[in-house]
Amino acid sequence: MKTIFSGIQPSGTITLGNYIGAMMQFIELQHDYHCYFSVVDQHAITVSQDRLELRKSIKSLAAMHIAIGIDPTKSTIFIQSEVPAHAQAGWMLQCVTYIGELERMTQFKDKSQGKDAVTAGLLTYPPLMAGDILLYNTDLVPVGDDQKQHIELTRDIAERFNKKYNDILTIPEIRISEVGARIMSLQEPTKKMSKSDPNKKATITLLDDPKQIEKKIKSAVTDSEGIVKYDKENKPGVANLLSIYSILGNISIKELEEKYEGVGYGQFKTDLAAVVVNAIKPIQERYYELIDSDELDQILDDGADRANKVASKMIKKMENAMGLGRKRKR
Ligand code: AQP
Repeated sequence: MKTIFSGIQPSGTITLGNYIGAMMQFIELQHDYHCYFSVVDQHAITVSQDRLELRKSIKSLAAMHIAIGIDPTKSTIFIQSEVPAHAQAGWMLQCVTYIGELERMTQFKDKSQGKDAVTAGLLTYPPLMAGDILLYNTDLVPVGDDQKQHIELTRDIAERFNKKYNDILTIPEIRISEVGARIMSLQEPTKKMSKSDPNKKATITLLDDPKQIEKKIKSAVTDSEGIVKYDKENKPGVANLLSIYSILGNISIKELEEKYEGVGYGQFKTDLAAVVVNAIKPIQERYYELIDSDELDQILDDGADRANKVASKMIKKMENAMGLGRKRKR
């Protein structure tokens, strides 16, 4: 059976972007692959975090994986910092990564833009991410298209390592879902929806209540035409709402365009809000059962044990390939 790895940062509450772009794929993939799903908290600290908020977000994101329908008996769900091999692999892989490659990453450019003090961690995020993936002999990485560049770099780093040292790392393939690969901000529909966006009106999170969802969708930026039509270039706001509706409502964009022909945005937005609320309701119910439960702690303890076993073996192989430490007889 092939292996999948995916990591999500606990940098805020999961948005519809994370859910549609990445997590919805996990639900179908878990049946056919050996899956590792990680709450990548070490990535989250590449930008400043409040420690108590971070702790809360870590557990919340872990619970959310189960609440959306991932079966923890089939897949390994764990917290990155509970598996020290990730930081160890990240360091080794930094030593085969060039600064120029890191400076070219779009996410680094976006997140460092206009900042006086940028941490080294923000720059060296991709080799840590490469470590996350490569530790588990990952065949496939399911992500939204904003992460494509990082996975391509992971492949380059792995190929370089294999060539320079020993051919031990599996080169992962990227899997981007065709629809919903990039859900956009509700307020600036040319910018992607992000869980760390300070403008709360721009995102819908999986923990928003029905009233908040309705309010956010009603105030979503569209245009003055009043025509429900998918045109990403000229009508990015409407196109984004159509994508969300189509995926969560399980209805094609063409059918939606026909349904709302001559109706205008008011009814379209009201119906979309109902579709979103409906999709999120069962997730929230399971989430609130889990969030303070011993069950969740047990799942995460088991997940860390399983991940540690696999990852520590790969670390030994990598260290051996690079000539680190002493040669051991056993
Ligand atoms: N807007 C989006 N549309 C589709 N997919 C998205 N993803 C993120 N935003 C969208 C996918 O969600 C997964 C989680 O990624 P992450 O938490 O590691 O980092 P990210 O891509 O930087 O996500 P955010 O929400 O934008 O986090 P912050 O605000 O902290 O930077 C990935 O698979 C990503 O592709």
